[in-house]
Amino acid sequence: MLSNQDSAGKRTSLHGHWSSRMAFILAVTGSAVGLGNIWKFPYIAGQNGGGAFVLVYLICVIVIGMPVMMSEILIGRRGRRNPIATMELLGKEEGSSGNWRWVGGMGVLAGILILSYYSVIAGWTLGYVVKSASGVFVGATAEAVSAEFSGFVGDWRVIGFCHTLFMSLAIFVVARGVERGLEQAVRFMVPALLILMLVLLGYSINSGSFGEGVAFMFTPDWSKLTWGSVLAALGQAFFTLSIGMGAIMAYGAYLPEETSITGASAAVVTADTSIAILAGLAIFPLVFANGLDPADGPGLVFQTLPLAFGQMAGGVFFSTIFFVLLSFAAWTSAIGLMEPAVAWVVEHYNKSRSAATVLIGGLIWVIGLASVLSFNVLAETKFLAGTLFDNVDYLTSNIMLPLGGLLITIFAGWVMCRNSTADELGSSGSLYKAWRLLARFIAPIGILFVLINAVT
Ligand code: PFF
Repeated sequence: MLSNQDSAGKRTSLHGHWSSRMAFILAVTGSAVGLGNIWKFPYIAGQNGGGAFVLVYLICVIVIGMPVMMSEILIGRRGRRNPIATMELLGKEEGSSGNWRWVGGMGVLAGILILSYYSVIAGWTLGYVVKSASGVFVGATAEAVSAEFSGFVGDWRVIGFCHTLFMSLAIFVVARGVERGLEQAVRFMVPALLILMLVLLGYSINSGSFGEGVAFMFTPDWSKLTWGSVLAALGQAFFTLSIGMGAIMAYGAYLPEETSITGASAAVVTADTSIAILAGLAIFPLVFANGLDPADGPGLVFQTLPLAFGQMAGGVFFSTIFFVLLSFAAWTSAIGLMEPAVAWVVEHYNKSRSAATVLIGGLIWVIGLASVLSFNVLAETKFLAGTLFDNVDYLTSNIMLPLGGLLITIFAGWVMCRNSTADELGSSGSLYKAWRLLARFIAPIGILFVLINAVT
C-alpha cells in the first residue's frame, strides 16, 4: 500500500485534489446528472404508475439521499483513499474492524456492473446523435419513430459497436486523471442541458397534453403503489444521486478540507432533482398526446423526444445537440462509475492509472455484452426480474445501492465517533444534529424497512 501523508503528517490523496469548491460540485453534479435523470426516471416513473411513485422518490431523495451523500463525502475526505482502503482504514481507526472494507468492495462491484449496462444505453444516445443529424425524424409519425428504435436496438452489431465506442471514450478520460477535462465538460454541459430541457418543456406545453402529463406525474394514485415500486423509488434515488457505491466517497477523497459538505450536497441534490422533474414534465405530455404508453420501458425517451424534435422548427439541430449533451452527461457519469475500481487497482496493485483504467474498462466492456444481447438475440431469455439487462439493473439499483447506503449511514452514524463526523461536517449546530438524526435513525431504518417489505 502506498503511503498518503504529506510532510506535515496530514492525509492527502494520491490522485490529486480538486482545484476549488466549485470544481468538486461540478464533478459530483456531472456524476449525478446523467441517463438516470433523463432516460431512467421517466420510464421507471411510467412503469410504476406516476404520481405516488414520484412523491415517494422525492421523499427518498430528501430524507435518505441527502444524509447518505453527506456521509459518503465525509468518509471519503477523512480516509483520502479509494473506497475499499478508506473503509478499512477508518473502520480500524474508529475502533471497529477492517472488515468494513467489504462495503467498499461491494461499491466497486456495483460500479462495474452498473457501467456495463449504462454504457450500452449511452451507446444508444451516441447512435441517436447520428440519426438526429441525418434527419430521419423530420416529420416522422409515432409509429415510424418506434420502428426506428426497434430496428436500432434489434441489431446487436450496431448497438454493440455503439457500446464499444462509448466505453472507449470513458476509458480515455478516466485514464487521464481526475481534473483535466472533466471540469470544463461539466461547466458547459449542465447549464446547456437545462436550457434544452426548457426548450422541450416549452414545446410540450404547447403541443403535448400538458395537463394530462402533469396530472400523471403529480396526482398520487396510492392504489398503484406496491412495496416493489417503493423499492424502485428508493433505488432510483440512489442511482440518480450516484450514492451507495462509493463513487461520491472516491470524489470526496479529493476534496479540500475547508469545503462545506452540507452546502455542496444540497447544491448537487437540487440540480439533479430539478433536471429529472423537468425531463418528466417534458416527456409525459408528449407520451399522452401521441397515444404512447408511459409504461413502455427503456425505449420511452428514445421514442418520445425524437418525435417532438421531428415536428419542431429547427428540430434536426435541437435533436442533434440534445443527444450530444445527453452523451456528455452519460460520459461524466461513467467516470464516477469507474473511479472507485480504478483508484483501488492503482493503490492496491501499484499499477499506473492508464493500465488500471484499461483493465477495468475492458472487463466492463465484456460484461456489457450481456446487456447488448438483452435487446435482440437474448430478448426472450427471461428470469427473475426479466432479461439479463433487467436483472443487472435490478440487482444493482434496487439491492446493492440501498444496501451500500444502509451500511454507509450505519458506519457514519454509529461507528464513527461524534468528534470525527462533527469535525468533517464542520459544525455542531442544528444542521449537524439534523444530519445525525437522519444518518443514525431515519435513513437506515427507512432503507431496511423498504428492503425487507419489498423482498419478502
Ligand atoms: N447518477 C448517474 C445517473 O443518474 O445517470 C448514474 C451513476 C453515476 C450512478 C455514477 C452511480 C455513479 F457512481
